[in-house]
Amino acid sequence: MASTLTFSPNDIPDLTGKVALVTGANVGIGLETAYFLASHNATVYLACRSEPRALAAIDILQSRLKAAKVDAKVYYHSFDLGSIKTAKASADDFLAKENRLDILVANAGVLGNQWTPEWEYEPMFYTNHLGHFVFVTTLLPLMEKTAAMTGDVRIISTTSKALFMTSPTIDYDSLVNRPKDADEPRRVSQFPNAMKVYGQSKLANLYFAKELDRRYREKGIWANAPHPGWVGGTELGLTEVADMFGFFTGRLAAWLTNTFAMSTVDGASTQTYLAVSPKVPELGIHGEYVMPRNNWFWRYQGPQVVKLDAAYQKEEEWSKLWEWSEEIVRKELAK
Ligand SMILES: NC(=O)c1ccc[n+]([C@@H]2O[C@H](COP(=O)([O-])OP(=O)(O)OC[C@H]3O[C@@H](n4cnc5c(N)ncnc54)[C@H](OP(=O)(O)O)[C@@H]3O)[C@@H](O)[C@H]2O)c1
Repeated sequence: MASTLTFSPNDIPDLTGKVALVTGANVGIGLETAYFLASHNATVYLACRSEPRALAAIDILQSRLKAAKVDAKVYYHSFDLGSIKTAKASADDFLAKENRLDILVANAGVLGNQWTPEWEYEPMFYTNHLGHFVFVTTLLPLMEKTAAMTGDVRIISTTSKALFMTSPTIDYDSLVNRPKDADEPRRVSQFPNAMKVYGQSKLANLYFAKELDRRYREKGIWANAPHPGWVGGTELGLTEVADMFGFFTGRLAAWLTNTFAMSTVDGASTQTYLAVSPKVPELGIHGEYVMPRNNWFWRYQGPQVVKLDAAYQKEEEWSKLWEWSEEIVRKELAK
């Protein structure tokens, strides 16, 4: 199956009538994903934490859509993963304003954030996983209702190959016990651990998709976890990595990424494929880790489903994450 998957924007079906929401859609991979969806006539919500940045992104999308002769249906939705309460409130607001949700791309993410005293939990894990957990699970009844009408709802939990930089078992103690050196000035020797911690949050994105799939597949909800590839032209970790490496090395790393990595259009392709392709239900692609297939020159050739080791296929790890996250959400919402 893996080698035969292909993706071209021309393969995207007409999405008229479908409602999509992309988190972190004001820039990078999320912005291109929103364009792919809106340019095929979906109503697209850009779920973003900064209203000015989201409105600027909508302006860009609208002019591109106008040039493509598409009637733009793109809207800002206020969304902040920085606290469980704001993420929940954002989902509740969405439930109050829409009566269907066909495609949810949980794309927003951070890399390299320091565990400063205001964080009670490790900040990358909190933002990348816990915020999305409460947001997505609050929206599940609406997606179930939509799936009952259409039989085809997609949830995309954007992950990263960085998940392989950590153990396949989530270290829950590390998420609640602030390390002693957390307040020390940033330095390059912190980078490997930052990648490990980021990897753990991305492992959670994978296990969340797997558990969603296990619980909701029979209801017509297709959940998958794409790795977009190594993508340039985004803002991921730019400030945080520059802080660790120093200004010049940080700029050099950004230049190398922007020059040699995949474009944001190619980076958005794998998650768009999972969000819209009729091949997903046809081929039974669910609960999978999917990544780009590139040629020798790093050019995108299409998506590939990766068969993960048995260490990543333990249902007890997926459901443990779900139950642990539910408990944290319960505690935080009760405060
Ligand atoms: N770029 C890569 O090579 C790569 C590789 C593997 C996986 N990924 C994954 O792909 C996804 C998109 O990354 P990208 O490279 O496009 O990054 P990006 O350009 O930095 O975009 C990240 C988006 O997430 C949003 N975000 C961050 N913190 C948030 C918060 N607390 N609440 C709401 N939104 C928040 C950002 O909003 P602001 O603009 O307001 O900060 C931005 O819209 C991420 O999940 C990332 O882990 C990327």
